[in-house]
Amino acid sequence: MNVFVTGGAGYIGSICVEELLNAGCHVTVYDNLTEGHRSAVDRRAAFVHGCLSDRPKLEQAIQGAEVEAVMHFAANALVGESMTNPGKYFRNNVASGLNLLDAAVAARVKKFVFSSTCATYGPPDRVPMTEDLPQKPINPYGESKLMFERILQWYEQIHGLEFIAFRYFNAAGASEQFGEHHRIETHLIPNVLRVALGQMPEIQIFGTDYPTPDGTCIRDYIHIKDLAQAHIAGLQPGKRGFYNLGNGDGYSVREVIQMCEEITGRKIPAVEKPRRPGDPPRLVAAADKAFKDLHWNPQYPKLRDIVATAWAWHQKHPHGYPD
Ligand code: UFG
Repeated sequence: MNVFVTGGAGYIGSICVEELLNAGCHVTVYDNLTEGHRSAVDRRAAFVHGCLSDRPKLEQAIQGAEVEAVMHFAANALVGESMTNPGKYFRNNVASGLNLLDAAVAARVKKFVFSSTCATYGPPDRVPMTEDLPQKPINPYGESKLMFERILQWYEQIHGLEFIAFRYFNAAGASEQFGEHHRIETHLIPNVLRVALGQMPEIQIFGTDYPTPDGTCIRDYIHIKDLAQAHIAGLQPGKRGFYNLGNGDGYSVREVIQMCEEITGRKIPAVEKPRRPGDPPRLVAAADKAFKDLHWNPQYPKLRDIVATAWAWHQKHPHGYPD
Protein backbone atom coordinates (compact mmCIF):
# COMPACT_ATOMS: atom_id res chain seq x y z
CA MET A 1 0.00 0.00 0.00
CA ASN A 2 1.21 3.54 -0.80
CA VAL A 3 0.77 5.75 2.25
CA PHE A 4 1.31 9.52 2.31
CA VAL A 5 2.29 10.69 5.79
CA THR A 6 2.15 14.36 6.72
CA GLY A 7 4.22 15.20 9.77
CA GLY A 8 6.28 12.03 9.26
CA ALA A 9 9.36 13.84 10.60
CA GLY A 10 7.65 14.56 13.92
CA TYR A 11 7.57 12.44 17.05
CA ILE A 12 4.43 10.38 16.47
CA GLY A 13 4.68 10.48 12.68
CA SER A 14 8.27 9.23 12.56
CA ILE A 15 7.50 6.10 14.54
CA CYS A 16 4.31 5.41 12.57
CA VAL A 17 6.39 5.69 9.37
CA GLU A 18 8.89 3.19 10.76
CA GLU A 19 6.12 0.73 11.64
CA LEU A 20 4.36 1.21 8.27
CA LEU A 21 7.62 0.40 6.48
CA ASN A 22 8.15 -2.62 8.71
CA ALA A 23 4.65 -3.75 7.71
CA GLY A 24 5.62 -3.58 4.02
CA CYS A 25 4.00 -0.27 3.01
CA HIS A 26 5.57 2.28 0.67
CA VAL A 27 5.72 5.62 2.45
CA THR A 28 6.06 9.22 1.30
CA VAL A 29 6.65 11.72 4.09
CA TYR A 30 5.50 15.32 3.59
CA ASP A 31 6.81 17.67 6.27
CA ASN A 32 7.91 21.29 6.49
CA LEU A 33 10.42 20.49 9.27
CA THR A 34 9.29 23.36 11.49
CA GLU A 35 8.54 20.89 14.27
CA GLY A 36 10.00 17.74 12.73
CA HIS A 37 13.57 16.65 12.01
CA ARG A 38 14.95 15.39 8.69
CA SER A 39 16.97 12.72 10.50
CA ALA A 40 13.79 11.42 12.15
CA VAL A 41 12.56 10.26 8.73
CA ASP A 42 13.25 6.60 8.18
CA ARG A 43 15.72 6.18 5.29
CA ARG A 44 13.40 3.74 3.54
CA ALA A 45 10.74 6.46 3.06
CA ALA A 46 10.56 9.04 0.27
CA PHE A 47 10.66 12.60 1.60
CA VAL A 48 9.08 15.81 0.30
CA HIS A 49 9.91 19.05 2.11
CA GLY A 50 6.71 21.06 1.93
CA CYS A 51 4.01 22.94 3.80
CA LEU A 52 0.34 22.03 3.92
CA SER A 53 -0.34 25.65 3.04
CA ASP A 54 1.47 25.14 -0.32
CA ARG A 55 -1.44 23.59 -2.17
CA PRO A 56 0.23 23.11 -5.60
CA LYS A 57 3.20 21.33 -4.03
CA LEU A 58 0.94 19.19 -1.90
CA GLU A 59 -1.23 18.19 -4.86
CA GLN A 60 1.81 17.36 -6.94
CA ALA A 61 3.31 15.24 -4.15
CA ILE A 62 0.10 13.26 -3.63
CA GLN A 63 -0.53 12.70 -7.34
CA GLY A 64 3.08 11.67 -7.90
CA ALA A 65 3.07 9.07 -5.16
CA GLU A 66 -0.09 7.23 -6.31
CA VAL A 67 -1.40 7.43 -2.80
CA GLU A 68 -3.97 4.98 -1.50
CA ALA A 69 -4.08 6.27 2.08
CA VAL A 70 -3.17 9.50 3.84
CA MET A 71 -2.05 9.63 7.47
CA HIS A 72 -2.26 13.17 8.75
CA PHE A 73 -0.02 13.97 11.72
CA ALA A 74 1.23 17.42 10.72
CA ALA A 75 -0.17 19.86 13.27
CA ASN A 76 0.67 22.14 16.14
CA ALA A 77 -0.03 20.24 19.32
CA LEU A 78 0.78 22.25 22.42
CA VAL A 79 -2.12 22.97 24.72
CA GLY A 80 -0.32 25.82 26.48
CA GLU A 81 0.80 27.57 23.29
CA SER A 82 -2.71 27.34 21.86
CA MET A 83 -3.95 29.40 24.81
CA THR A 84 -1.67 32.29 23.85
CA ASN A 85 -1.63 31.95 20.04
CA PRO A 86 -4.98 30.47 18.95
CA GLY A 87 -4.67 31.79 15.38
CA LYS A 88 -1.69 29.51 14.74
CA TYR A 89 -3.79 26.50 15.71
CA PHE A 90 -6.83 27.33 13.58
CA ARG A 91 -4.68 28.33 10.60
CA ASN A 92 -2.34 25.34 10.58
CA ASN A 93 -4.57 22.61 11.98
CA VAL A 94 -7.80 23.55 10.23
CA ALA A 95 -7.24 25.84 7.23
CA SER A 96 -4.04 24.15 5.96
CA GLY A 97 -5.49 20.74 6.75
CA LEU A 98 -8.29 21.48 4.31
CA ASN A 99 -5.75 21.70 1.47
CA LEU A 100 -4.73 18.16 2.32
CA LEU A 101 -8.31 16.91 2.30
CA ASP A 102 -9.02 18.53 -1.07
CA ALA A 103 -5.81 17.11 -2.51
CA ALA A 104 -6.76 13.66 -1.19
CA VAL A 105 -10.21 13.87 -2.80
CA ALA A 106 -8.71 15.07 -6.11
CA ALA A 107 -6.24 12.16 -6.08
CA ARG A 108 -9.04 9.66 -5.30
CA VAL A 109 -7.36 8.56 -2.07
CA LYS A 110 -9.34 5.74 -0.44
CA LYS A 111 -8.55 6.26 3.21
CA PHE A 112 -7.77 9.20 5.49
CA VAL A 113 -6.27 8.48 8.91
CA PHE A 114 -6.38 11.45 11.26
CA SER A 115 -4.32 12.14 14.33
CA SER A 116 -6.86 13.58 16.78
CA THR A 117 -6.76 13.97 20.52
CA CYS A 118 -8.60 13.46 23.76
CA ALA A 119 -8.27 17.24 24.14
CA THR A 120 -11.40 17.39 21.94
CA TYR A 121 -13.46 16.26 24.96
CA GLY A 122 -12.39 18.90 27.43
CA PRO A 123 -12.80 17.98 31.10
CA PRO A 124 -14.93 14.84 30.91
CA ASP A 125 -18.14 14.21 32.86
CA ARG A 126 -16.83 10.74 33.68
CA VAL A 127 -13.64 8.65 33.37
CA PRO A 128 -12.64 6.34 31.82
CA MET A 129 -13.74 8.22 28.72
CA THR A 130 -15.67 6.57 25.91
CA GLU A 131 -16.00 7.98 22.41
CA ASP A 132 -19.63 9.04 22.91
CA LEU A 133 -18.85 11.63 25.62
CA PRO A 134 -19.75 15.21 24.74
CA GLN A 135 -16.88 17.10 23.12
CA LYS A 136 -16.38 20.44 24.85
CA PRO A 137 -12.71 21.44 24.41
CA ILE A 138 -11.26 24.03 26.77
CA ASN A 139 -8.34 25.10 24.60
CA PRO A 140 -7.93 26.14 20.95
CA TYR A 141 -5.76 23.09 20.26
CA GLY A 142 -8.61 20.71 21.16
CA GLU A 143 -11.10 22.93 19.35
CA SER A 144 -9.00 22.90 16.15
CA LYS A 145 -8.84 19.10 16.16
CA LEU A 146 -12.57 18.85 16.82
CA MET A 147 -13.26 21.18 13.90
CA PHE A 148 -11.21 18.93 11.64
CA GLU A 149 -13.04 15.84 12.92
CA ARG A 150 -16.32 17.46 11.90
CA ILE A 151 -14.98 18.40 8.47
CA LEU A 152 -13.91 14.78 7.97
CA GLN A 153 -17.48 13.60 8.52
CA TRP A 154 -18.76 15.94 5.80
CA TYR A 155 -16.00 14.93 3.38
CA GLU A 156 -16.85 11.29 3.92
CA GLN A 157 -20.56 11.91 3.40
CA ILE A 158 -20.16 14.19 0.38
CA HIS A 159 -16.95 12.97 -1.30
CA GLY A 160 -16.88 9.36 -0.07
CA LEU A 161 -13.44 9.78 1.56
CA GLU A 162 -13.46 7.09 4.28
CA PHE A 163 -11.78 8.30 7.47
CA ILE A 164 -10.66 6.95 10.78
CA ALA A 165 -9.72 9.41 13.55
CA PHE A 166 -7.70 8.42 16.59
CA ARG A 167 -8.12 10.43 19.74
CA TYR A 168 -4.81 9.93 21.47
CA PHE A 169 -4.30 10.27 25.14
CA ASN A 170 -0.68 11.04 26.12
CA ALA A 171 1.77 9.61 23.59
CA ALA A 172 5.08 8.67 25.19
CA GLY A 173 8.05 6.29 24.88
CA ALA A 174 10.31 5.60 21.92
CA SER A 175 11.30 2.97 19.41
CA GLU A 176 14.94 1.81 19.22
CA GLN A 177 15.68 4.32 16.50
CA PHE A 178 13.23 7.20 16.92
CA GLY A 179 12.09 9.20 19.91
CA GLU A 180 10.70 12.45 21.26
CA HIS A 181 12.58 15.64 20.46
CA HIS A 182 10.63 18.88 20.34
CA ARG A 183 12.67 22.03 19.82
CA ILE A 184 10.72 23.61 22.63
CA GLU A 185 9.91 20.80 25.01
CA THR A 186 6.81 21.23 27.16
CA HIS A 187 5.83 17.57 27.68
CA LEU A 188 6.17 15.98 31.07
CA ILE A 189 8.16 12.78 30.45
CA PRO A 190 10.91 14.22 28.21
CA ASN A 191 11.30 17.16 30.58
CA VAL A 192 11.60 14.91 33.61
CA LEU A 193 14.22 12.87 31.74
CA ARG A 194 16.14 16.04 30.90
CA VAL A 195 16.37 16.68 34.64
CA ALA A 196 17.67 13.13 35.06
CA LEU A 197 20.29 13.84 32.36
CA GLY A 198 21.41 16.95 34.24
CA GLN A 199 20.19 19.28 31.47
CA MET A 200 17.63 21.02 33.69
CA PRO A 201 17.99 21.65 37.42
CA GLU A 202 14.44 20.64 38.35
CA ILE A 203 11.04 19.71 37.01
CA GLN A 204 8.18 22.14 37.53
CA ILE A 205 4.87 20.64 38.65
CA PHE A 206 2.06 22.70 37.14
CA GLY A 207 -0.71 22.71 39.73
CA THR A 208 -0.91 20.82 43.00
CA ASP A 209 -4.48 21.78 43.96
CA TYR A 210 -6.42 19.70 41.42
CA PRO A 211 -9.24 17.45 42.66
CA THR A 212 -7.05 14.32 42.38
CA PRO A 213 -5.58 12.14 45.17
CA ASP A 214 -2.18 13.92 45.20
CA GLY A 215 -3.41 17.24 43.78
CA THR A 216 -1.58 16.90 40.41
CA CYS A 217 -3.09 16.21 36.97
CA ILE A 218 -3.74 12.65 35.89
CA ARG A 219 -3.01 11.44 32.35
CA ASP A 220 -3.20 8.15 30.45
CA TYR A 221 0.22 7.49 28.87
CA ILE A 222 0.27 5.36 25.76
CA HIS A 223 3.33 3.91 24.04
CA ILE A 224 4.09 5.37 20.66
CA LYS A 225 4.57 1.95 19.04
CA ASP A 226 1.15 0.87 20.26
CA LEU A 227 -0.31 4.03 18.72
CA ALA A 228 1.39 3.14 15.45
CA GLN A 229 -0.12 -0.35 15.44
CA ALA A 230 -3.62 1.09 15.78
CA HIS A 231 -2.96 3.29 12.72
CA ILE A 232 -1.93 0.27 10.69
CA ALA A 233 -5.06 -1.62 11.76
CA GLY A 234 -7.11 1.43 10.79
CA LEU A 235 -5.91 1.23 7.18
CA GLN A 236 -8.16 -1.75 6.48
CA PRO A 237 -11.15 -0.83 4.33
CA GLY A 238 -14.34 -0.44 6.33
CA LYS A 239 -12.56 0.49 9.58
CA ARG A 240 -13.85 3.99 10.13
CA GLY A 241 -15.05 6.50 12.70
CA PHE A 242 -13.60 7.69 15.99
CA TYR A 243 -11.41 5.72 18.37
CA ASN A 244 -9.81 6.56 21.70
CA LEU A 245 -6.28 5.27 22.12
CA GLY A 246 -5.09 4.95 25.70
CA ASN A 247 -4.37 2.25 28.28
CA GLY A 248 -7.15 3.01 30.73
CA ASP A 249 -4.65 3.74 33.54
CA GLY A 250 -4.18 7.21 34.92
CA TYR A 251 -0.92 8.45 36.43
CA SER A 252 -0.46 11.72 38.24
CA VAL A 253 2.40 14.10 37.54
CA ARG A 254 3.99 13.09 40.84
CA GLU A 255 3.66 9.39 39.97
CA VAL A 256 5.35 9.97 36.62
CA ILE A 257 8.25 11.75 38.32
CA GLN A 258 8.58 8.91 40.82
CA MET A 259 8.60 6.32 38.03
CA CYS A 260 11.29 8.28 36.21
CA GLU A 261 13.39 8.31 39.39
CA GLU A 262 13.04 4.52 39.64
CA ILE A 263 13.91 3.87 36.00
CA THR A 264 16.83 6.28 35.82
CA GLY A 265 18.10 5.63 39.33
CA ARG A 266 18.58 9.39 39.69
CA LYS A 267 17.05 11.93 42.05
CA ILE A 268 14.71 14.30 40.22
CA PRO A 269 14.14 17.58 42.11
CA ALA A 270 10.68 19.07 41.64
CA VAL A 271 9.20 22.49 42.38
CA GLU A 272 5.52 23.24 42.73
CA LYS A 273 4.13 25.89 40.37
CA PRO A 274 0.66 27.29 39.65
CA ARG A 275 -1.69 25.51 37.26
CA ARG A 276 -0.97 25.70 33.51
CA PRO A 277 -3.97 27.25 31.71
CA GLY A 278 -6.02 24.80 29.63
CA ASP A 279 -5.09 21.62 31.55
CA PRO A 280 -8.02 19.32 32.44
CA PRO A 281 -7.46 17.61 35.81
CA ARG A 282 -7.96 14.00 34.72
CA LEU A 283 -7.95 12.33 31.28
CA VAL A 284 -8.16 8.53 31.13
CA ALA A 285 -9.29 6.50 28.12
CA ALA A 286 -11.73 3.68 27.67
CA ALA A 287 -10.34 2.14 24.48
CA ASP A 288 -12.64 -0.89 24.34
CA LYS A 289 -13.91 0.15 20.91
CA ALA A 290 -10.37 -0.07 19.46
CA PHE A 291 -9.74 -3.40 21.23
CA LYS A 292 -12.94 -4.84 19.78
CA ASP A 293 -13.21 -3.37 16.28
CA LEU A 294 -9.51 -3.07 15.40
CA HIS A 295 -8.24 -6.00 17.51
CA TRP A 296 -5.82 -3.48 18.94
CA ASN A 297 -3.61 -5.10 21.54
CA PRO A 298 -1.11 -2.71 23.20
CA GLN A 299 2.28 -4.34 23.81
CA TYR A 300 3.62 -1.72 26.25
CA PRO A 301 0.70 -0.80 28.50
CA LYS A 302 2.79 -0.29 31.65
CA LEU A 303 4.14 3.16 32.51
CA ARG A 304 7.39 1.47 33.58
CA ASP A 305 8.01 0.13 30.06
CA ILE A 306 6.94 3.39 28.44
CA VAL A 307 9.39 5.40 30.55
CA ALA A 308 12.14 2.78 30.11
CA THR A 309 11.99 3.02 26.30
CA ALA A 310 11.98 6.81 26.48
CA TRP A 311 14.97 6.78 28.84
CA ALA A 312 16.91 4.38 26.59
CA TRP A 313 16.39 6.74 23.64
CA HIS A 314 17.26 9.90 25.56
CA GLN A 315 20.43 8.31 26.90
CA LYS A 316 21.47 7.39 23.35
CA HIS A 317 20.46 10.83 22.02
CA PRO A 318 20.97 13.26 24.93
CA HIS A 319 20.59 16.24 22.60
CA GLY A 320 17.91 14.67 20.43
CA TYR A 321 18.24 14.75 16.67
CA PRO A 322 21.20 16.67 15.19
CA ASP A 323 18.98 18.79 12.92
N1 UFG B 1 3.39 19.02 33.33
C1 UFG B 1 4.12 19.47 34.42
N2 UFG B 1 5.38 19.91 34.20
C2 UFG B 1 5.97 19.94 32.97
C3 UFG B 1 5.22 19.47 31.87
C4 UFG B 1 3.94 19.04 32.09
O1 UFG B 1 3.62 19.48 35.54
O2 UFG B 1 7.13 20.37 32.84
C5 UFG B 1 2.03 18.52 33.55
C6 UFG B 1 0.99 19.23 32.74
O3 UFG B 1 0.54 20.38 33.41
C7 UFG B 1 -0.06 18.16 32.60
C8 UFG B 1 0.75 16.85 32.55
O4 UFG B 1 2.02 17.17 33.10
O5 UFG B 1 -0.87 18.13 33.73
C9 UFG B 1 0.95 16.34 31.15
O6 UFG B 1 1.41 17.41 30.35
P1 UFG B 1 1.99 17.24 28.88
O7 UFG B 1 2.38 18.59 28.42
O8 UFG B 1 3.01 16.16 28.86
O9 UFG B 1 0.76 16.68 28.07
P2 UFG B 1 -0.73 17.29 27.91
O10 UFG B 1 -1.63 16.38 28.67
O11 UFG B 1 -0.81 18.72 28.21
O12 UFG B 1 -0.92 17.22 26.35
C10 UFG B 1 -0.59 16.06 25.64
C11 UFG B 1 -0.32 16.45 24.20
C12 UFG B 1 -1.57 16.93 23.54
C13 UFG B 1 -2.70 15.99 23.78
C14 UFG B 1 -2.85 15.73 25.23
C15 UFG B 1 -3.93 14.77 25.55
O13 UFG B 1 0.66 17.46 24.11
O14 UFG B 1 -1.33 17.05 22.17
O15 UFG B 1 -1.64 15.19 25.73
O16 UFG B 1 -3.97 14.61 26.95
F1 UFG B 1 -3.84 16.50 23.31
